[in-house]
Parts: sequence; structure tokens; C-alpha cells
Amino acid sequence: MSKPQVLVTGGTRGIGAAICEALADDHSLIVGGRSAREVETACGRYPDARPFVADLTDEQATDAAVAALGVEALDGLVHSAGVAGGSSTPESTRGMWRSMFELNVFAVSDLTRLLLAPLEAAQGTVVMINSGSGLRAGGVGGHYPASKFALRALTDVLRSELRGAGIRVSGVHPGRVDTDMQRQLVAGENRPYDPEEFLRPASVAAAVRLALTMTPDASVEELSIRPGPATELR
Ligand SMILES: NC(=O)c1ccc[n+]([C@@H]2O[C@H](COP(=O)([O-])OP(=O)(O)OC[C@H]3O[C@@H](n4cnc5c(N)ncnc54)[C@H](OP(=O)(O)O)[C@@H]3O)[C@@H](O)[C@H]2O)c1
Repeated sequence: MSKPQVLVTGGTRGIGAAICEALADDHSLIVGGRSAREVETACGRYPDARPFVADLTDEQATDAAVAALGVEALDGLVHSAGVAGGSSTPESTRGMWRSMFELNVFAVSDLTRLLLAPLEAAQGTVVMINSGSGLRAGGVGGHYPASKFALRALTDVLRSELRGAGIRVSGVHPGRVDTDMQRQLVAGENRPYDPEEFLRPASVAAAVRLALTMTPDASVEELSIRPGPATELR
């Protein structure tokens, strides 16, 4: 029997790379990223992986990359590519709001639409890497939580729209995770970076693997992954 095939956007680094790692032994991977070189390097780490190179904010490039894939059946689509950061809300320009929503929301909707037929053919699962900021907003900067609240709405609506086609849609909401994105955020807070303060990418990947490998009678709809006592007590 052939292995289930899963496309992971943002598969070159951080949470996306950990998801690829968690699936690599028993899945055929399609690894997404913007740089052909980085994506090839990532693919080289796994026994069965091929590249999906596109800047997902570029509609035409995304269309072309999906057409070039020529995939007929897709068991899983994991949307991990995302951006965070930026300035406080009073300092945020319309362009900053646009670029955040382009990747975190519009690209997710677009890529899901483009891959609907192969997802339906495989009765596949779509997993959105959302955030704790998609459940509760606070702190500084409105555009990131606003984009993740929008992603949550998209996730919930897609779940009901695609149920009839046999496609499951899961939302995974991690707290702060030790990745390049987190390093940038902490640098912006002007404090030292201690990886031990944050969730491990592999812990989020384990939750994504659960959503993708759930038996057909059940669907993981929304998972919140928070730091456990071992992280908080450090
Ligand atoms: N880290 C956290 O604390 C945290 C917490 C909660 C939720 N999240 C969410 O988890 C997801 C992954 O975050 P991360 O921490 O793993 O981020 P990361 O370390 O910054 O990695 C981002 C990934 O997204 C890809 N990417 C960025 N812009 C892209 C674009 N325009 N087109 C295609 N791919 C693009 C990057 O590929 P390149 O190699 O091409 O740059 C990279 O693989 C995001 O949706 C984020 O909002 C993160």
C-alpha cells in the first residue's frame, strides 16, 4: 500500500520542519518554502519528500506551483507558513495589515481551494497552524491576533463546508514555540532568548500528527497546546 501523502507549507524551518520530521517515517512528504535551495535541503533529510517552492503571498506563483505538483490524491495539507511581529496597532500601516493577512489568511484559503479536488479524492485532512493569539488577543500589535482570529473563522467555516466532501479540517493553537519566529519576537522585546521558556516544535508536531492520523470516525477540530508544568517550573 502506498504511503499517505502530506503537503506541509513552511516545511523548511520551525514548526513546519518538526511536522515533516514527525511524519517522515510513514508518509510521503511535499515540503513547502520560498527558496528552492532551502526546500531541496529540507527534502534531503527525509526518505520520501519532494519540493513545493512558492511565495504563498504571490497568487500566480502559487497557482503555477500547484499545477506543477500534479497531485491527484492528497491525504493531508498542513498550513504552517506564517508571519508574526510588527509594530503596535497605532504604528501599524495598512500595508503591514495587508502583508500579515496575505500569508496568514488569504494564502491559506487560496491553497486549500487549489487542492480541494486531490483532498476530496483522498478524503484528506486540512490542518491550520493557528496560535493562542487566535483564541485570545492581548499584548501589543493587533494585526497578528486579528489574522489568527480570521484564520480560526476560516477553519470553522471550511470544516462545515467540506464535511460533505469527506474532508476534515483541524485548528491547532500553540502557545509560544522555540523557533526563528520566536527568536525575532523576543529580540523585539529586548530580552535574552532562552529556548527552555518555550514549547518545543516537536510537541506541536505530535498534535498535528494526531489530527492527521485520526481514525475516519473522528475528527480533531480544535487543539490548544500550552506550556506544561515542566516548562513553567523552569
Ligand atoms: N513560533 C511560535 O511561537 C508560534 C506560536 C503560535 C503559532 N505559530 C504559528 O506557527 C506557524 C509556523 O511558525 P514558525 O514559528 O515555525 O515560523 P518560522 O520559524 O518563522 O518559519 C516560517 C516558515 O514559513 C515559511 N514562509 C514564510 N513566509 C512565507 C511565504 N511568503 N511563502 C511561503 N512560505 C513562507 C518560511 O519559509 P522560508 O524558509 O521560505 O522562509 C518558514 O518555513 C505560523 O503560522 C505561526 O503563526 C508560531
